[in-house]
Amino acid sequence: MDIQLNIKRVLSEKTGLREFILEVPPEGMGDYAFPCFSLAKLRKQSPSIIATALAQEVGKIAGVSQIKAVGPYVNFFVDTTLLLTYTLNSILTAKEDYGTHPKTGKKVVSEYLSPNTNKPLHLGHLRNVSLGYSISRLCEALGHKVVQVNLMNDRGIHICKSMVAYKHFGNNKAPDIKSDHFVGNYYVLFNEKSKTHPELEEEAQQMLIAWEKGEKEIVDLWRKMNSWAEEGFMQTIRRLGIEFRKHYYESKFYFKGKKVVFEGLKQGLFEKDETGAVLVKLEQFGLPNKVLLRSDGTSVYMTQDIYLAILKHKEWKYDESLYVVASEQNMHFQQLFKILEIIKFPRAESLHHISYGMVLLPEGKMKSREGNVVDADELIDDMISLAQHEIMIRWKDITHEELMERARIIGIGALKFHLLKTDPLKDMVFDPKESISFDGETGPYVQYAHARAASILRKIGRTNGKKMVASLSKLHAPEEVAVAKLLAIYPDKVTAAAMQYKPSIIAHYLIELTHAFSSFYHECPVLDVGDEELRLARIALVMCVKQVQKNGLALLGIEAPEVM
Ligand code: ARG
Repeated sequence: MDIQLNIKRVLSEKTGLREFILEVPPEGMGDYAFPCFSLAKLRKQSPSIIATALAQEVGKIAGVSQIKAVGPYVNFFVDTTLLLTYTLNSILTAKEDYGTHPKTGKKVVSEYLSPNTNKPLHLGHLRNVSLGYSISRLCEALGHKVVQVNLMNDRGIHICKSMVAYKHFGNNKAPDIKSDHFVGNYYVLFNEKSKTHPELEEEAQQMLIAWEKGEKEIVDLWRKMNSWAEEGFMQTIRRLGIEFRKHYYESKFYFKGKKVVFEGLKQGLFEKDETGAVLVKLEQFGLPNKVLLRSDGTSVYMTQDIYLAILKHKEWKYDESLYVVASEQNMHFQQLFKILEIIKFPRAESLHHISYGMVLLPEGKMKSREGNVVDADELIDDMISLAQHEIMIRWKDITHEELMERARIIGIGALKFHLLKTDPLKDMVFDPKESISFDGETGPYVQYAHARAASILRKIGRTNGKKMVASLSKLHAPEEVAVAKLLAIYPDKVTAAAMQYKPSIIAHYLIELTHAFSSFYHECPVLDVGDEELRLARIALVMCVKQVQKNGLALLGIEAPEVM
């Protein structure tokens, strides 16, 4: 019997709410809590008054022994044996699908990474791709079909700057370092040289015009340098296990954005200002007006995005479109979505900017122009060596191959987990040393517990599934119940994380589950326990924890190692 579902049915009947999340109250205060805050907002009443009234109204619920209002919450005490057997059974049956919703038929396009092709990826991109990948997986867990795409901002003045520097100082050399770094070095060089040679700026402008005209020599150079940049980016994200269904190239469609702008001008939706630039008035919507085409007819960043939204819809017929882009571009996306509404783009209501804050290293702010950014490749390498070090302290007798494979899984796991455990909207400090610790609130901590569960199960070998299920009612110890209750709310956590676009909810949940699992592990022996039924029941519990840890880590894009 699904007690949670019983509770939710009655609550939804009494409150009229369709989607809500139950919480787990503090020890001794019940098994589930329904927070009345959103209802209080709707009804303009105090949450504790609502809680008191609701606790009386709900009446009897199957599987629930007591219902009590506690401040702004309605708390439910449930029959723990029922809860436990139902939850563990569901996990053992659903396995990797536990926590996911049935297919909805909805399609979501999820865009992330989206680099400029003039310099290598940095720490901010690592937060971006960790979030983008995880949010895509979370949307899949909601039952949607997700298409992950990337946009290459591969044209414009910044690209021409690297090209100008290469033309003057590159001697036609092929890359002798990772190719995106090679390109990036010329961007840095341009910025250095242009301080004393301001005419280089003018040359870059001229080059952009020549590029737009399609001058062969310039286009050839551009193609060469862009392929270097792209090749390097792909090497980096492949290490992180990320692959895109499609790459969009700004160079291939930016001019189509111009057409859409002219069309809007004809329809009177946009206007020309005294300089001849086309702009859209957004003041009445509380946003600054926006230039869509400069007076010389060249397009801006916004121009390409207007067309890209239309193009993605043409190609994927999406129901929803996500853009994972740093918070510096909040205004850009507010304006973009408003402009699309003005031109009556049919999906204007279904576009979401998933914004995220800055990442700093403990030493201080990362700087761009000067070239001393926190480089993504270097950081990935550092994480892997830190992991290697941790592994070598603990395990002396593993092969070099094993060491390298584990270091990769742990190093990258630590990186992603740390970047994801902070609320996306908050700025954060990425501390490599802290993130790798095996006993902090880290990826390796969860991975280690998963490997420990795997090792217990290896020692046990094959078990009889039917007997195992039949023995579940043997679990009574508070540590066992605590674990089972957490396992029971996992599906709600997935829903909450997906709807709010917050992988941090899953990361925190995994920490909590792992804490509870450690207490269980210390208090309740699994291997040497006299009672055979209890032994089987505990094995089932370990299997379920391992499964949920694996499912949760997968939603964060993190591998769950069998050994560590
Ligand atoms: N390339 C841009 C940048 O690095 C981000 C692009 C985001 N995506 C978009 N559709 N505008 O700032």
